[in-house]
Amino acid sequence: MSAFGSVFMPEMAISWFDGSSWSESQVVPSESLHLHAGAHVLHYSSTCFEGLKAFRHEDGSIKIFRMDRNIDRIAQSSELLALPEVNKEQIAQMITSIVAQFAAEVPEAPGSMYIRPTHIGTEPAIGKAAVPTLESCFYVLLSPVGDYFSGGDSALRLLIDDKNMRCPPHMGMVKSGGNYAGALQPTMKARAEFQADQVLFCPGGDVQETGAANFLLIDGNEIITKALDSTFLHGVTRDSILTLARDMGMTVSERQLSVDELLERAAKPGCEAALSGTAAVLTSVGTLIYNGKEHSVGNGGIGETTVKLRRALNDIQWGRSEDKFGWLLDI
Ligand SMILES: Cc1ncc(COP(=O)(O)O)c(C=O)c1O
Repeated sequence: MSAFGSVFMPEMAISWFDGSSWSESQVVPSESLHLHAGAHVLHYSSTCFEGLKAFRHEDGSIKIFRMDRNIDRIAQSSELLALPEVNKEQIAQMITSIVAQFAAEVPEAPGSMYIRPTHIGTEPAIGKAAVPTLESCFYVLLSPVGDYFSGGDSALRLLIDDKNMRCPPHMGMVKSGGNYAGALQPTMKARAEFQADQVLFCPGGDVQETGAANFLLIDGNEIITKALDSTFLHGVTRDSILTLARDMGMTVSERQLSVDELLERAAKPGCEAALSGTAAVLTSVGTLIYNGKEHSVGNGGIGETTVKLRRALNDIQWGRSEDKFGWLLDI
């Protein structure tokens, strides 16, 4: 099977901002993006993106999951990166129309169509290190994806890093390429030295998130996860899982979690931990590695509550249970 995100639909939706207005959106070949080599994004990383999914239901209909949240987030990312203001209605129209165009290509469950809206600074201006781009481009690319768990659902190993940050504290809530580039070296090192799947960034002992997912601790009937602030990405999956957990009668504690408390709770037999994100939905964390020592989370395997919450979310996404929170958009 091809790696996640390596297959693309041949066409994408695109619109250009010329300094004063957005062009009417067009559908163009996905490899036809032409940029000046001096484009702002290529030098000063004026870029942000989103990741959301469209699902095929058994009756053949196609639904997009919580699109409004992702549009709000890319509007916020654009603002915090001093990119031109986006037009939310136009983005909604670009996403729904390109998904409708490729509706026949949306895989059946457990697959889905991954949607990648992207906003980049295009002004040819290499003297603008401290000045925003005046021109930009917004496009929506599609990538059909298969079952994330097809290789087996195994619990992850995370290296706890209490010294480094994933990104500057004011940039965590911005979904921008630079944040991911910065997390690569620490993650590769953690893989090579500790066979860790991901780094759990915990600067100063504050448990934040990994390079591409939010972190949740599940202790009995309680879910504990960091309260929203500017230091980490406000995941749509995180919000959805917390909503489902509350609905199931669980206690949701959005607050600071220290590495000490995490390790203390993880040592209890029934404790679980999980990563949440659009790609992996909710994946169990079985082992935490801290200061060279391995700590099992609960029994070290796949968590029962984690699986129950993941199924509850998947069931809504795939139309197998009622969309009681109004998360699905018909296209
Ligand atoms: C850094 C980071 N945190 C968290 C998430 C989870 O966000 P979401 O649930 O909106 O996909 C992602 C995934 O996109 C991410 O890249």
